[in-house]
Amino acid sequence: MTPPPELATGRLRLRPLAPADRAAVVALFADPAMSRYFAADFSDPAQARALVAERLAASPPAGQGHWVIEHAGALIGLASLRPSSVLPGAGAEIGYSVATEHAGTGFATEAVTAVLEHAHDFLGLPAVYALVHEDNAASLAVSARTGFLDVGSREHFGATHRVLIALPPARRGRLHHVELWVPDLARAEQSWGWLLGRLGWREFQRWPAGVSWRSGVTYLVVEQVHAGSEHDRIRSGLNHLALHAGTRAEVDRFAGGGHGWRPLFADRYPHAGGPEHYAAYLENEDGFEVELVATDTP
Ligand SMILES: CC(C)(COP(=O)(O)OP(=O)(O)OC[C@H]1O[C@@H](n2cnc3c(N)ncnc32)[C@H](O)[C@@H]1OP(=O)(O)O)[C@@H](O)C(=O)NCCC(=O)NCCS
Repeated sequence: MTPPPELATGRLRLRPLAPADRAAVVALFADPAMSRYFAADFSDPAQARALVAERLAASPPAGQGHWVIEHAGALIGLASLRPSSVLPGAGAEIGYSVATEHAGTGFATEAVTAVLEHAHDFLGLPAVYALVHEDNAASLAVSARTGFLDVGSREHFGATHRVLIALPPARRGRLHHVELWVPDLARAEQSWGWLLGRLGWREFQRWPAGVSWRSGVTYLVVEQVHAGSEHDRIRSGLNHLALHAGTRAEVDRFAGGGHGWRPLFADRYPHAGGPEHYAAYLENEDGFEVELVATDTP
C-alpha cells in the first residue's frame, strides 16, 4: 500500500497513520464523547486498537488513506479519505475526528480543508462525500464551513445521517500558473519556498533548474536563468505578486520579513496600499516583491 502524502497546514501536520500511533489513538478516543455519533464505542481500548489495525490493513487507491492530525508534535486527531462503501460513484468519503480538548479551535476545519484540497486539486476526484449523523451539530458545522452541500439523508448503522458532498472548485478562467525566472535557484527556494509553505502551498514539481509550488488550482514556478538578468520590479514586466494571506494577525506575522525577505514601505504598514487595505509588502534579495493581503476576518 502506498501511504497518502503528508499534508501541511498553517497549524497542523497530517501524516500517514503508522503502527506506532496505536497508543495515542487509544488515548484520543478514551473520551466516550468522541464516539457518540459512531456505530462503535472507541472508548473501549480494544475497539480503538481494532480501528487502527483495520486502517493499517486497508489498501485504498493511490493518494487516499488514513492520516493522523498533529499539532505541535502531538497526535490530536485522525482524518481519512477512502472509497465509500455506501455512496456510489468515483468520489471518496472523508472522515475526521479531533480531540475534545481542542474543540472550537478550528483545527477540524483546517484539517478537512487540507484533505479536500488534496482530493480535488491533487487527486482530481470528482466529489468528496461525508456521512454525518443528523445530531452531530459540530461536524455538520465543519462540513458547512468547508463547502459541503447537504444533498439528503440516509439510514446508516440504524441512525439517520446527512449525506454531504463537496465538489471541486471551478478551474475555468482561474490563474493556472505563474513562472518566474530567477538568477539564483537556491535563494529563490529559500525565500519563495518558505513564504508559500507558510501560506499552505505544497511543493509540486522539481527538476535541476527549477521548482514549483501549488495551491489549489494554481502553481508558481521558479526557474534558474543565466546570470546577469536581474529582475527590476519598477521596470516594465512583473511589478509584484499579491497573495491572500489570511487574517490581519497572520499578515502581521509576515510583516517583519525573514527567510530572504525584507519589508518594503514599512513606515506605512499596514496601510501602504490604502486606508481600507491591510497588507504587508516584502522584497527578496533578487528584487521580487510580494504583497500579502489580509482577506480573512478573524
Ligand atoms: C466533529 C469535530 C471534528 C468538530 O470539531 P470542532 O472543534 O467543532 O471543529 P473546529 O476545530 O473546526 O472548530 C470550529 C469552531 O471553532 C471556531 N474557530 C476558532 N478558531 C477558528 C479558526 N481559526 N478557523 C475556523 N474555526 C475556528 C469556529 O468558529 C467554530 O466554533 P462555532 O461552531 O462555535 O462557530 C469534533 O467534534 C469531533 O472530533 N467529534 C468526534 C468525532 C466525530 O463526530 N467526527 C465526525 C464524524 S462525521
